[in-house]
Amino acid sequence: MGRQFFICLALIVAVLCPPAAAQKYAALFSFGDSLSDAGNLCADGIPSYLATARPPYGMTYFGHPTGRVSNGRVAVDFIAQELGLPMPPPSKAHNASFRRGANFAITGATSVDPSFFEAHGLGGTVWNSGSLHTQLRWFDELKPSICSSPKDCRDLFRRSLFIVGEFGGNDYASSLAAFRPLEEVHTFVPHIVNSIGKGIEKLIAEGAVELVVPGVLPNGCFPLYLAIFRRQQPEMYGPRTGCIKDLNTLSWVHNAMLRRKIAELRKKHSGVRIMYADYYTPVLQFVLHAEKWGFLRQTPRACCGAPGVGEHNFNLTHKCGDPGGHACDDPSNHWSWDGVHLTEAAHGHIAKGWLYGPFADPPILQTRP
Ligand SMILES: *[C@@H]1O[C@H](CO)[C@@H](O)[C@H](O)[C@H]1NC(C)=O
Ligand SMILES: *[C@@H]1O[C@H](CO)[C@@H](O)[C@H](O)[C@H]1NC(C)=O
Repeated sequence: MGRQFFICLALIVAVLCPPAAAQKYAALFSFGDSLSDAGNLCADGIPSYLATARPPYGMTYFGHPTGRVSNGRVAVDFIAQELGLPMPPPSKAHNASFRRGANFAITGATSVDPSFFEAHGLGGTVWNSGSLHTQLRWFDELKPSICSSPKDCRDLFRRSLFIVGEFGGNDYASSLAAFRPLEEVHTFVPHIVNSIGKGIEKLIAEGAVELVVPGVLPNGCFPLYLAIFRRQQPEMYGPRTGCIKDLNTLSWVHNAMLRRKIAELRKKHSGVRIMYADYYTPVLQFVLHAEKWGFLRQTPRACCGAPGVGEHNFNLTHKCGDPGGHACDDPSNHWSWDGVHLTEAAHGHIAKGWLYGPFADPPILQTRP
């Protein structure tokens, strides 16, 4: 075939296939915890107890704290920008416009409702500002600001992207913080995953057809867990990662069960596209192949903390945002921001992997076969 054919083909492709990202979605709605909170605890000013809403949070992108628990944008912000949408405003923001999306995520959110934790004697360690199902109620209440009639709402939601999670991180954290045995925490996994499944189905009932469902992170690699949950025997740490094996196993089991739940929901709701989004693999990659991602090769270390008062630059009484806590010189070469959450650089890599692969199944912008 001649050169002209290819030139012609290139022209046809250019005309018929504009960049996939542009205008694919009319709006982006996000639910989650501190990994995706855009400031829902700060709608009426910054509460004095909230270290994550004090400098140097927000230093890299916004130049000031926004309530995002990072030095800049989080994955959902990157995804919105790549899709040509505004970063979804926190759903509790007073003067925001929600027609093109809203972010219901709130720091401390759990997958299951507080009653579950109370029934298990864990009421004291869960800081529940809005579980998944509470956020779904907020979504329902916000509808008059999003769309104008039931038909208009369904039509908009059908053309929107929904990101449901991550949920689970705080459910497990509250159990681990109470020093519950891991065997007992494993028995919570089906409840936590079922609750996420119910949330997905509520959104499908509202008309959602494109949903991204992130799994949990490998907690055993995070400075917080490495500092607090020390293991006695060296073989309890991954030989190459240095991460705590049994904590990563818990995350892995959750994610495996979540993927089975997603497979079940795909069968039940044909015509709905449910994408599994992976936080686990990229973080392990950041640890194992740091240089490839532009990160320093080192034992997991928070960029922002109080140097000298804790291994991994993490100390609960001198956290990022607390007096004495400050950021490292270059946050872009760390994946862990404050020992619990990710840097903007890490969020950016993850968002890209969810949009184009390889960190989502299927990737958000994968064209249908
Ligand atoms: C919202 O907008 C109104 C009028 O535009 C203004 O008076 C009010 O102060 C704004 N509220 C906030 C919280 O920004
Ligand atoms: C945290 O810092 C205090 C000093 O303020 C120190 O006594 C304590 O050992 C540190 N904790 C860890 C886990 O490093």
